[in-house]
Amino acid sequence: MSKILFKNARLRSSPELTEILAEDGFITKIGKTDGKSEGAEIIDLGGRLVCEPYCDPHIHLDYVFTAQSFQQNETGTLFDGIASWSESKGSLSKEVLKERAKKGLKEQLVGGTQYIRTHVDVTDPKLTGLQAMLELRDEMKDLAEIQIVAFPQEGMYSYKGGAELVEEALKMGADCVGAIPHFEYTSEMGAKSVKKAVQLAVKYDKLVDIHCDETDDEMSRFVELLAYEAMDNGIGKKTAASHTCAMGSYNNAYAFKLFKLLKKSEINFISCPTENIHLQGRYDAYPKRRGLTRVKEMLDDGINVCFAQDSICDPWYPLGNGNLMYVLDAGFHICHLTSPQYMSHALDLISSNGAKTMNLGERYFLKEGNPANFIVIDAQNDFDALRNRAGVYASIKNGKALFIKKPTEFAEETFSKYGL
Ligand code: FE2
Repeated sequence: MSKILFKNARLRSSPELTEILAEDGFITKIGKTDGKSEGAEIIDLGGRLVCEPYCDPHIHLDYVFTAQSFQQNETGTLFDGIASWSESKGSLSKEVLKERAKKGLKEQLVGGTQYIRTHVDVTDPKLTGLQAMLELRDEMKDLAEIQIVAFPQEGMYSYKGGAELVEEALKMGADCVGAIPHFEYTSEMGAKSVKKAVQLAVKYDKLVDIHCDETDDEMSRFVELLAYEAMDNGIGKKTAASHTCAMGSYNNAYAFKLFKLLKKSEINFISCPTENIHLQGRYDAYPKRRGLTRVKEMLDDGINVCFAQDSICDPWYPLGNGNLMYVLDAGFHICHLTSPQYMSHALDLISSNGAKTMNLGERYFLKEGNPANFIVIDAQNDFDALRNRAGVYASIKNGKALFIKKPTEFAEETFSKYGL
């Protein structure tokens, strides 16, 4: 029987220090443990902040670290990223895909992420990427929980047989249905793909996550159809709209009407700040649009929004390292979230809001009876974490430490000489 006592833990809900007791991988006590912790191994968290693990609800693990090996995306646009991927993807074997994905996953783990939703390109008759990611999901289950989206990167209908490949991927074990309506050749095909995605989700009891309106084109309005179809089929909470960049270009009269539907539908939103500030605005002269969805306004309206790292070094974004704190920092700046009511709950955007989007349920939260999954952040509270872009000191999964970093050692003599 394993028994670990995490001392001097600081919860997000209270500045007081407390204790967390984990037995056999589950949290058995939060608070003073009195005699219960006898014989436990003790880990002193030194007053650091304890938070539920970070969630990255939108990454492409089958694409990671391909930016340098593929033809460069010189324009930096979404469409040239797709062209570059399309030309080269056939050359990747299952083994190579898995090795790259493992490297990306390790970076995510070190950044404190334990829940991941990865889109996998299924516009490939051999479904090589899907097979690789299905294996990865099972092999890595003790380190991270991975959801797989059957994502038709080149279109459900613009790519011949795309819709059938999505369905095949669901039968093989993918968790979510994907689509990319703004990329389809015509808006009719885009609308058909949204309807098909919802239909497939209902048929196979899966989640939905659509790359939706990832463009500065203010006429790209698939999000309204997605919200309606999800609501009409009773799967709003199981549905996510990723990107919705065009919402940043909608006129306010339309946005006002749209928001009523979005709220009623209960669908979730995923914004990828670093990738979309990079990809959007590319057709603008000046002023250049930010290209992000209306994060602040949706939060104000009680609509669930979370942040994600879409790419790690792929044809769509040459940077990225899976560290969601950097993503959070970028998102707070780009979306004008830098006021106290948002900063005091900043971590929600990369933790609980993502968990809600991923439909993780109550088991995700730090409470007695749940699996002992949490991270320890080098900060005192959310504001402090955001301001310092604080690192993750430790990540605990099922009661065991995936890592504990060493605290910074100062040259005390030098610092004290200057009174620091
Ligand atoms: Fe994506």
